[in-house]
Amino acid sequence: MIVNFASAIMDDGKKIKLFVASLVLLAAFAPISESANILGIFTTTSPSHNIVHMSYLRPLIERGHNVTVVTSIPLKDKNPKYHHILIPPTEARTKQMADMKAAVSKKRSLLELIRTSLESVSSFGPMLADHLKDQRFQDLMQNPDNKFDLIVGGYFFNPFYVGLAAHFRCPMVLSYANAPNSLTNSFIGNPNELAYVPLSPLFGLPDLSTFKGRLTNFMINIPVSVFNGLMDMQMEGIYNEIFSPTEYPSYHEAKKKVSLIMFNYHFTDGIVRPNVPAAIECGGIQIKDKPDPLPENLQKLFNASSEHGVIYVSFGSNLGINDINPDVVNALFKALSGLKQTVLWKWSDPKTPGTASNIHYNSWLPQDDLLQHPNLKLFITHAGKGGVTEAAYHGVPMVAVPMIADQIGNAAQMVKDGFGLQVDKKTVTEDQFKEAILEVLTNPQYTENVRRFSKLTKDRPMTPRETAVFWLEYVIRHKGAYHMQSPAVHLNTFQLYSFDVIAFILLILFLVYKLVSVPLIFVFRRLIAKFTKVQKIKKH
Ligand SMILES: *[C@@H]1O[C@H](CO)[C@@H](O)[C@H](O)[C@H]1NC(C)=O
Repeated sequence: MIVNFASAIMDDGKKIKLFVASLVLLAAFAPISESANILGIFTTTSPSHNIVHMSYLRPLIERGHNVTVVTSIPLKDKNPKYHHILIPPTEARTKQMADMKAAVSKKRSLLELIRTSLESVSSFGPMLADHLKDQRFQDLMQNPDNKFDLIVGGYFFNPFYVGLAAHFRCPMVLSYANAPNSLTNSFIGNPNELAYVPLSPLFGLPDLSTFKGRLTNFMINIPVSVFNGLMDMQMEGIYNEIFSPTEYPSYHEAKKKVSLIMFNYHFTDGIVRPNVPAAIECGGIQIKDKPDPLPENLQKLFNASSEHGVIYVSFGSNLGINDINPDVVNALFKALSGLKQTVLWKWSDPKTPGTASNIHYNSWLPQDDLLQHPNLKLFITHAGKGGVTEAAYHGVPMVAVPMIADQIGNAAQMVKDGFGLQVDKKTVTEDQFKEAILEVLTNPQYTENVRRFSKLTKDRPMTPRETAVFWLEYVIRHKGAYHMQSPAVHLNTFQLYSFDVIAFILLILFLVYKLVSVPLIFVFRRLIAKFTKVQKIKKH
């Protein structure tokens, strides 16, 4: 039809071109059966998590689906096709979060650190519940015209969001910005193999080839399981508040309805682990299949610095100037200002660490495009999961200054992989920074290692985005795809680890032992008695 219409208004040469173009277009869209209504709910306030979650929606829009997205921070992706609902955190919550961030990053005793960490963790749930209770979201929920074929939920301390799948009577997929861990695994029955899979980068990476490492991994799992259990109770409470048990399935039933989890992790990241079919490895999902051209001013800087190359510095989007120790920033500034390389520093505060002819501050930099530039020599990072993944994917060596949470483990893994070095934020000096930077710039082994990895991780049957599109549409096509659910989802802990079976076998063994031993002992005693009698008689 397109071709017929076009032929009426165009000459022959153009006709052929258009014909070919529409064939290509048709081929590209061929697998899509019909446009689906998809709801993305990503209420995290962490921009880096949001980038990961949003990466699933863009290709879905490009394939013609009708995408509605709820976020708590403005969208970076300005595609007008999103039906976007912005629900920012309340002022009180914003203040609460800022206070907690400050408290966690301050120097404190271990006990206080644990207390403030627990406080901040337990405030996530109520904060993320605010978004669901908000009038703007309630309008979306209560409008009977809104029908969805799939919900994609950004997962982080909000498992009660599973109630939305029950509400809209549609399948739900979770997006998790990290590797599988015991929290995410519980949804889909993914095994936690403590003997050879590190529990979580949050707790560092014990060397599991040693007994000590395995003991550590096992022991950390105990408080973590207690924590998970307590958190689940809190989440169940929130669920019951929003999804009344009289109208909705119970929290634990609703949790079993999660079809898939998309992980921002791939086995080439270094942790090889067994995954059930519902655990989809989409490591590098936030990375574009092809870079966009750099803005003109950045391109100019790259051209001008072609001799020595460019260093890119970013402490991510979560950490503000007040969250980073000024000593660290000053030491880094001094170390960088003496270098021949051009430095691009992502810095959003009006007050900069200082001026130097080779350092250029920018409140926003197109990280993914920068890291793909052949003349980018080094990435100085706080070791957020997103940045480390992107740099490694593009083969850029790193110097890491991990600050909090999973950054510690990300940096340790990065160093272990040989992609760069890390410095300690508590003790780092200008000289240490300089030494680490020069070592990574001049010793080719780091670049070689990370380039080798880059080649390896890109070698996949489908790109992360193609993988994501395939599985999300698969869930839509097969109405939740519950045929691929692991039976483990329906077992409790005792059943899952065969404790019930082991207990049964022990009981049988005990009974058999009793059955056999009682008469045996009886016979034995009689024999002894007889024997001693005989002995006595003999003696007399
Ligand atoms: C797309 O989704 C929105 C919900 O945000 C809905 O109002 C609209 O009717 C949908 N469009 C189509 C064509 O289904």
